[in-house]
Amino acid sequence: MKTAGPLRRPLIEWYRRHRRDLAWRRTRDPYRIWISEVMLQQTTVKTVMPYYEAFVAAFPDLPSLAGAAEEKVLALWSGLGYYHRARNLHRGARHVLERHRGRFPRTLEAALAVPGVGLYTASAVLSIAHGVPLPVVDGNVRRVLARLFALRGPEWRADAAFYNKADELLDRQAPGDWNQALMELGATVCLPRRPACPACPLRAHCAALALGIAEQLPEGRARRAPVAVTVAAALVEEGGRVLLVRRGEGRLMGRMWEVPQTSLEARGLPDLARELKQRHGLDLVPGKLVARGRHAITFRRIRLEAYSSRLRRRPPVDPERFRWVRPEEIAALPVSSITRKVLRGLGSPQLPLELQ
Ligand code: ADE
Repeated sequence: MKTAGPLRRPLIEWYRRHRRDLAWRRTRDPYRIWISEVMLQQTTVKTVMPYYEAFVAAFPDLPSLAGAAEEKVLALWSGLGYYHRARNLHRGARHVLERHRGRFPRTLEAALAVPGVGLYTASAVLSIAHGVPLPVVDGNVRRVLARLFALRGPEWRADAAFYNKADELLDRQAPGDWNQALMELGATVCLPRRPACPACPLRAHCAALALGIAEQLPEGRARRAPVAVTVAAALVEEGGRVLLVRRGEGRLMGRMWEVPQTSLEARGLPDLARELKQRHGLDLVPGKLVARGRHAITFRRIRLEAYSSRLRRRPPVDPERFRWVRPEEIAALPVSSITRKVLRGLGSPQLPLELQ
């Protein structure tokens, strides 16, 4: 088996020269690195950048996040998706404030005890902020390693195999830069399709390139096919305000505000009025289709249809469950991307409106 020796210099030097200048790379503050790593899970750098800036502007240090209202934390996360990450981050900040006097722990064991912090996040924060020699494996690292060493076959389907490989290669003198260099190479050069091999600092060492199989690697993990879902939403307008309802507790966008809506997995149009009656006690009559569009989130391909609707009875005054908002007010509310899309499109003269 090849050792890491000949890879280190070229990769680290490449990283130091070519790395993207990102806000979270200009700090060693574990709190800020933690936020960036949580945001970057399942989300691209380009999308994360403005969210990160706004988040750390609102909560510049851990105590400010720990002391914030959940609604404000979720509002700043609105549009990033995977909202349990925001709730976990918030809970995690409280834990760190209470148990560690506001300082992110320095050992793997203590870091893993923080709510929402798993092996990836713990290792990323500890290696980048404190130089703790822990490997990180995300999708980019997995792809780089699979190609560099032409790793294939059944034993390379397991995460543990890649973790061990990454650990074996880790530059223990510079684990933060090494981990980020592997991730950066995967994100900017060793791309899933059409990798830029001529620009790769490791091309002379790459087994997959030599074998001409770079694009075939990594071999797939068992993937869930996305589920096709139809979401029907009821738009209730009154004096320039739109009715929003609050979702119940739950992993998927729990406690966020949304245009009253319902979904059925690939079974055609749901019975909107009946569902909204059941779920929220709303008594309404759906009318014309006013907007439709598509929206993709994790494992779901959503067909979205919004119907202008009339209330038969006003919902009770209960600001925990119902709100009437002007479209411009939603910036301050935790609102799902679908609802944002629908409200952004309101007022357009062309109906039904095709949402982007
Ligand atoms: N993806 C997630 N975290 C990253 C980091 N620190 N550097 C590059 N890509 C990343």
